[in-house]
Amino acid sequence: MNEENKEKVDAIIRKWNGKRGALIMALHELQGQFGYVPWDEALYLGQSLGVPMAKIYECLTFYNYFKVKAPGKYVISICDGTACHIKGATGVLEELEKELGVPAGTTTDDGLFYIQVVRCLGCCGLAPVMVINGTTYGKMTPDKVKSIINEWRAKEGK
Ligand code: FES
Repeated sequence: MNEENKEKVDAIIRKWNGKRGALIMALHELQGQFGYVPWDEALYLGQSLGVPMAKIYECLTFYNYFKVKAPGKYVISICDGTACHIKGATGVLEELEKELGVPAGTTTDDGLFYIQVVRCLGCCGLAPVMVINGTTYGKMTPDKVKSIINEWRAKEGK
């Protein structure tokens, strides 16, 4: 796990540690940040919350909701929680679907981008929020979508 991811997981741990249902809520938020539940991060999260590895595994396999494999190289999470919805998340999602040519819940044909709609990423002050592989984009507008996607395409030489 790199330093950037560790900081993200630490923030999730600080938020949920000691609270009721902490493991499920923290895993939920982890998936929101990364688009799936990366094993190393889940393990670190569980250890920090005092949850044994077997319990984490049980939780991830019991709930169909959790994805344990990245559904695309770059997972784009669009928040449609209340704050983001009110501030225009729907328009951002529509523009994203148009730009990538696929609807939410699917992966582009080249396997690069997967779009998922999530509920509250825990940074409502930045609404509407989009996260790509852990990188957060706040105060999103539809006209920012193309240039952000092009930055990620450029990493692939596209
Ligand atoms: S509602 Fe979108 S981050 Fe909270």
